[in-house]
Amino acid sequence: MTNLNNALVAQAGLRTWYANHARNLPWRLKPSLYGTWLSEILLQQTQVETGRPKWHLFMERFPTVGHLARASESEVLKAWEGLGYYRRATLLHKASRIIEAAGEFPMSYDAWLKLPGVGPYTAAAIASIGLGEAVAAVDGNVQRVVSRWAGIADPVDGKTGAQAIQTVADAWLDHDAPGNHNQAVMELGALVCKPRKPLCTLCPISTHCASANNPDMWGVLPAKKLKKKVQRWELTWHIARFENNIVAIKRPESGVWANMWAFPETPPPSHFLPLGALMKPITHLLTHRRIEATFQGWRAPSKAALEAYAKEVAGEVMTWNALKKRAMPRLVTKVFDALHGE
Ligand code: ADE
Repeated sequence: MTNLNNALVAQAGLRTWYANHARNLPWRLKPSLYGTWLSEILLQQTQVETGRPKWHLFMERFPTVGHLARASESEVLKAWEGLGYYRRATLLHKASRIIEAAGEFPMSYDAWLKLPGVGPYTAAAIASIGLGEAVAAVDGNVQRVVSRWAGIADPVDGKTGAQAIQTVADAWLDHDAPGNHNQAVMELGALVCKPRKPLCTLCPISTHCASANNPDMWGVLPAKKLKKKVQRWELTWHIARFENNIVAIKRPESGVWANMWAFPETPPPSHFLPLGALMKPITHLLTHRRIEATFQGWRAPSKAALEAYAKEVAGEVMTWNALKKRAMPRLVTKVFDALHGE
């Protein structure tokens, strides 16, 4: 089990390794609280290589927290398009308005934790990287590294396992350079202590690792509680048009694809001409759902009929080009041109 006496050895090994192997990530070049916060929100559920271009896009479009706060929510959602987990964008935007109103960034772990979208991991990452505060940041990468190194078999998403991981992570923490240290552990998880096949021969802390060179351990650590079953969801979206106009709806404020634009799930009335399915059903995966989406086409007898239907489903009549400017789920953007071309 955990040998905390070896924690200092791990700390020193990590420091040297990180100095030689840190990736050149844009938010590390000229670190700022704003850039660090943005990077941490982006990376919550997105791979570094996918997050990198979005980080640049956000820094260009919203160069300061003030720019972000003054933008509308739909502009921010549009900029987020393609990344998924859009609640992150909504909460980032809400938090930007709180920061702007306060006139300054939060200056501690506790203060960051109060902001929307900022949980214990994100607050610890920002406070350590951006403010030099000595708090250990534990994300999925860190859970993997620590559970393997210390041989922690309790599920990392349960109370006992999480506490055991936190104890080791706290003992490892380099108080002189907490930001670098936290990023070193994450980096080790991303580059060396990989989920399936860790590269133990390249690992700076393999000497005292409970799982080094042991594939039986890699398969079971980090241990997780049993997963929720993936639900199947058959979704039909109705695309009713008159000439170049269609009916689109803004989805509700909560639930999947909150506040994004898509199509009604209620079919139009019977005097609309059915055009059948516009394409083969599309399979789309979200975290706990497997969606089978069908797009049914309809031609409205008149613009007035289209407008009446829009009213019934609380939608809007607009052109394809107008819809293209709104934030839409990836499930729609990936077939948008095909739908439009029908
Ligand atoms: N994942 C989340 N934040 C990170 C960071 N600062 N460095 C590397 N990977 C990360």
